[in-house]
Amino acid sequence: MTTPGKTRVAIVFGGRSPEHGISCVSAGSVLAALDPDEFEVVPVGITRQGQWVLASGDPGQLAIADRKLPEITAGSGAELVLRADPAVGGLMVLDPAQGPVALADVDVVFPVLHGAYGEDGTIQGMLEMADIPYVGANVFASAAAMDKEFTKKLCAAEGIPVGPYVVLRAGMTLTEEDKERLGLPVFVKPSRAGSSFGITKVDDWAQLDAAVATAREIDTKVLVEGAIVGREIECGVLEGEAGGAPEASVLAEVRVVSGHDWYDFEAKYIDDACEYDIPANLPEHVTRQVREYATRAFTALDCSGLARADFFVTPELDVYLNEINTMPGFTPTSMFPRMWAASGLEYPKLVNRLIRTALRRAGR
Ligand SMILES: Nc1ncnc2c1ncn2[C@@H]1O[C@H](COP(=O)(O)OP(=O)(O)O)[C@@H](O)[C@H]1O
Ligand SMILES: [Mg+2]
Repeated sequence: MTTPGKTRVAIVFGGRSPEHGISCVSAGSVLAALDPDEFEVVPVGITRQGQWVLASGDPGQLAIADRKLPEITAGSGAELVLRADPAVGGLMVLDPAQGPVALADVDVVFPVLHGAYGEDGTIQGMLEMADIPYVGANVFASAAAMDKEFTKKLCAAEGIPVGPYVVLRAGMTLTEEDKERLGLPVFVKPSRAGSSFGITKVDDWAQLDAAVATAREIDTKVLVEGAIVGREIECGVLEGEAGGAPEASVLAEVRVVSGHDWYDFEAKYIDDACEYDIPANLPEHVTRQVREYATRAFTALDCSGLARADFFVTPELDVYLNEINTMPGFTPTSMFPRMWAASGLEYPKLVNRLIRTALRRAGR
C-alpha cells in the first residue's frame, strides 16, 4: 500500500553487467540514506541473469563482507514484473498462486545500476515507455556516455580536449601509422564497459592482440588510447536546481599507490590501494578549467540529474577529458558522494536532491 504523503521510490540494483556487486553496495548506501518519514522504499534487485526480484531493503545485506561483493540471486525475493504500459504502469509481484499482484505504483525509480543494461539507456527506455520518472540521464545521454567513442566525439566537438585514440570496430586492427601516432604505452579498452573491466595497459606491441581480444570479450568495439601521463582528477556534476545551469563539485584527485600501476578494478574496490585528495591540490585556474569542462561535457552529452566527469591533468597542467559516468559509484567510499559532501551537500541531501530533481523534470 502507498502511504499518503510519502514518495514511493524504487531503488533498482544489481543487474546483468559485471558491475553487479558494486551496484548492490551503492544501493545499500542509498537505501540507508533515505529518510523513512519522507520516502517509502521498494528495493528491486536484478539478478545477473536479468530476473527482477523484490529484494531485501536491509543495507547490512548489501555491503562488502570478507572482500566479497554482495549478489542478487533468484532466491533473494519474490519475482517482479515491470509493466511497461502507462495505463497500468508500475511493478507487479509474481505470486505463484495468484499470478501478478500489483505492488502499487512507484513515484520514481532510482536505477542505481552501473554499466550495461543500467547506465546505457536500456532501462531508461523501459521506464520512459512505462511513464515512470527516474533519477539520472535520459536514454540518449546514458547511451552516449556509456560509449567512450561517442563521449569523446561529442565532447571534442564542444571544444573539450580529449587524448589521441583509435576506434577498432569488429575485425579491425591498428595500422603502423596508428601505432606511430599513439606511441607506447597504450590503453586498450572496450568502448562500452566500466569499473576498468577488460582494460589492459600495453607496453609492447607484441601484447596488443591479446589485449584487444580481452577487450572484445566485453565489446566488439575497442578503443586504443595513447597513455596520458598525468594526475587523475574527477568532478561531480549535478543538474541545476529548478532547471538552472549544471553545477560542478569541488575536485578530487585519485592516486594509485602500493603495487597498482593504474586505476584497475582491484585498486578501485578491493585493495586499499588508493589515496584521495578532496579537494584536489591544483592551481586555481586549473580547478576552474576542469570544473568548466565538466559542466560543458554534461551539457554536450545532454545529461540530466548527475554525472561524474573524469580527467587527466598533465605535469604541464594540460587538461584532458577521460570519460563521463552517468551513474557513478555511490558506495560510502565513492568519489561522487564524497566530492559533494566536500562541496557542502551531505549524502542524504544529495540523494534527496536527485529524487526531487527527477520528479520535477517529469512535472510531478
Ligand atoms: N589514455 C589513458 N592514459 C592513461 N591512463 C589511462 C588511460 N585510459 C585509461 N587509463 C587508466 O585506466 C583507468 C580506467 O580507464 P577508464 O577509461 O576510466 O575506464 P572505466 O570506464 O572502466 O573506468 C583510468 O582511471 C586510468 O587509471
Ligand atoms: Mg574510469
